[in-house]
Amino acid sequence: MVIFSMSQKFTNSTLSGILEIDKLKNVDMPIENANGLPNECYTNADYLDYEREKIFCNKWIVIGVASSIPNPGDARPYNLLGIPLILVRDKDRGIKVFHNVCSHRGFKLIDKPCTLKNVIRCPYHSWSYDFKGNLIATPHIGGLNNHQSEKFDKNKSNLKEVKSKVWMDIIFVNINSNEIEFDDYIKPLEDRWSSFINKDDQKLIVHSNDYGYFNLDVNCNWKFAIENYCESYHLPTIHPELNKVSNINDHYHIQGLPNRFAGQGSKKYEQPVKGNKKFETFPNWDKTKLKNSEYIALFPNVMIGLHIDHFYVYWLEPLAMDKTREHMQMYYIGNESANGEELKELRKENSRFWKDVMIEDIKAIEGMQEGRNSPVYNGGNFSPVMDQPTHQFHKWVATNLL
Ligand code: FES
Ligand SMILES: [Fe+2]
Repeated sequence: MVIFSMSQKFTNSTLSGILEIDKLKNVDMPIENANGLPNECYTNADYLDYEREKIFCNKWIVIGVASSIPNPGDARPYNLLGIPLILVRDKDRGIKVFHNVCSHRGFKLIDKPCTLKNVIRCPYHSWSYDFKGNLIATPHIGGLNNHQSEKFDKNKSNLKEVKSKVWMDIIFVNINSNEIEFDDYIKPLEDRWSSFINKDDQKLIVHSNDYGYFNLDVNCNWKFAIENYCESYHLPTIHPELNKVSNINDHYHIQGLPNRFAGQGSKKYEQPVKGNKKFETFPNWDKTKLKNSEYIALFPNVMIGLHIDHFYVYWLEPLAMDKTREHMQMYYIGNESANGEELKELRKENSRFWKDVMIEDIKAIEGMQEGRNSPVYNGGNFSPVMDQPTHQFHKWVATNLL
């Protein structure tokens, strides 16, 4: 299967029609002189088209998790800001991502999650593709009961596959197939985390089936969720309860280089406990950092939380300029912790804990969206001390737009 690569739709000259390029260049100044991204990046519909190309098609982005399609034939559609995609679990249990469009007359193949028997069959004229995307049946293509045509070469009409990679259950795609290989892309983060989890330990995570998923719809641009996640500055005001157990001083900044992730860590993580029951822990976690937990935004659209006893993936589905669906996926170490009856109540509490935190954040991120309608706001100024990881994200966006 040949990975399909779209040609670039937009150029920098289009961007200059949307916003002042100098404002973007200002983002990449030393933090004490920098401004944040300009308002247009959060409010302008033409900008969203541009961003779809430069950020969501050119970069490695997240469109779901593999455990949401666990069995061969399981398939889900995904709408990437208007681009229709399909995620499929192959017969050999791998994950495939295709453009969700029939090669015949362009019918959208799948419109809701389903389990396919053997093929992806187009509802319009029943052309059928196997799970590798090969066109294998073209009923009546040569007239009634004539399923072949000499004038038609099936091999040229396979589904268009998207470059994809599953890492820690997260499904990444690179629509334009122009990024560096994923293994190289993720290496700086894996290196950073090697004292917590090695490559074998990564395989220990198991998605929880009962309290392993929730989603939240928020009325704001997706970028605000990332910006907010990168900093612990808002702890005392937005999360007063959390701040009592782990305050600003218990946190440290994380700035991933080369610039592709940022966030914060805590030195005061306490494992949840009920009676004498606790979750299983990662076996090779650094014994000098048992209370460390790390909260990293891997740009553009996924926030991950790593703790000695659980892992979560909080990924963003941009729906519109000011609408985002946040998907929370939770994992534990081994099946007993993830799905065993004994720890069910503890999982319920842990899920509730995180949901409460994420809900507290909504007022912060929606408030920034409303503020961005102000004509006098210039992108703002950063705290030179507290906003470094957030500034790093703004720089990443600005650089990729230019
Ligand atoms: S459009 Fe799919 S078979 Fe005709
Ligand atoms: Fe927060």
